[in-house]
Amino acid sequence: MEPPCSFHPCDEAVIATNDDASDCKRCAVRLGYWKDEYIGYFVRNQDRKAPEINRGYFARVKGVEMCVEKFLKKTNGDCQIINLGCGFDTLYFRLRDTSHQVKNFIELDFPTVTARKCYTIKRNKALLAKIHDEDGEVRLSPTDMHGPSYHLMGVDLRNLDELDNKLQQAEVNYSLPTIFLAECVLVYIEMQNCKNLLKWISNKFTNAVFVNYEQVNMNDRFGEVMLNNLRSRGCSLASVEACVSLDTQVNRFLECGWTGSRAWDMVQVYQSLPEAERQRIERIEMLDEGELLLQLFQHYCLVVAWIGELFQDIEITCVNVVEKRMSWLNIE
Ligand SMILES: C[S@@+](CC[C@H](N)C(=O)[O-])C[C@H]1O[C@@H](n2cnc3c(N)ncnc32)[C@H](O)[C@@H]1O
Repeated sequence: MEPPCSFHPCDEAVIATNDDASDCKRCAVRLGYWKDEYIGYFVRNQDRKAPEINRGYFARVKGVEMCVEKFLKKTNGDCQIINLGCGFDTLYFRLRDTSHQVKNFIELDFPTVTARKCYTIKRNKALLAKIHDEDGEVRLSPTDMHGPSYHLMGVDLRNLDELDNKLQQAEVNYSLPTIFLAECVLVYIEMQNCKNLLKWISNKFTNAVFVNYEQVNMNDRFGEVMLNNLRSRGCSLASVEACVSLDTQVNRFLECGWTGSRAWDMVQVYQSLPEAERQRIERIEMLDEGELLLQLFQHYCLVVAWIGELFQDIEITCVNVVEKRMSWLNIE
C-alpha cells in the first residue's frame, strides 16, 4: 500500500516510540510504582528497565495525573479530555474505575497505532466493557472506535483538516472545558506544524488547558547524547528548538495564542508529589546512579498552558527544592 502523501521518512521511528513508552510503563507498573490494570493488555514485553527509567516514568505519569485531577475537580467532570499521540496510554480506562467521569474522552494517534489499540480493545472484554453503555453500542473501523463517550481515531496531527473532521466525528464540543494531553508527542512534530496545531486549538476552543510533557534543557551535553541516541534509531526530535529551556517551552504556547503558560522541570514536579508516595516508590529499587536520575529529571518538563481563565492559578508547589534534591540523592 502507498503511504499517505503526508508520510515522512521517520514517521515509522516516531511510531515505534510508543512501544518504548508502553514497555517502560508496563515494567514500572509490574514493579509496583503505580497501579494500572490495563497496560498489560497492550504490552506483552516483560523486560526490566533501569531504576532511573522506572522513577522517571513514575514522575511523568503522576505529574500528568496531578494536572488532570486538578482539572476534573475544577470542572466537576463537565469537560472533555483529548489525548494527542495517545499511544497505548490507559488513562481512559483508569479514570473509569474512579469517581471521576468526563463528558467525552478522545484519543488520537497515527492510524498504525490506533489500529493496534482498537484491535486490543476489541479482543478484550475487560477493555470493551469500559467503552460501551448498557446498549453495547460501539462503532468500529480498522483504525477508529466510537463509544458513547470514548473515541479513538487515527489521524496525522499535522493535517488540521483531517483533525477537524475527526474531532467532529467524535462530537467534540468546542466550548466545553477541554484538557489536551501530549506526553512526549509535540517534540516529534516539525516546529511549523506544531505551531499550526497549537494555534488551531487556541482559535477553536474557548476554554482549554494543554498539558505537555517532554524534553527541556536540550542544549547541553546530556541533551546532545539524547539526540544522538534517537538519531541512531532513525528518529529526530523535530521540535527540539522548543525544548531549549522552560522559557522556550512557555513561549511557544504564548506565541500560538494561548492566554498563559507555566513550566516546571521534573525535579520540581517530582518534589511536588506527596512525600509518602515518593518514599514508597524509593523503597522499590535501589538507585545506583542518583546523579543520572537527577540529570534525567532536569531534561524533562511539564508545561501547562491555558485559554481563558481556566487554570491560570495552576501551581505545582515545591518548597526548598535544592535542599530536598540533596537529601534525596544522599549528597551532603
Ligand atoms: C513517545 S510516544 C508516547 C505515547 C503516549 N503519549 C504515552 O505517553 O504513552 C509518542 C506518540 O506520539 C505519536 N505521534 C507523534 N507524531 C504524531 C503525529 N504527527 N500524528 C499523530 N500521532 C503522532 C506517535 O505515534 C506515538 O504514539
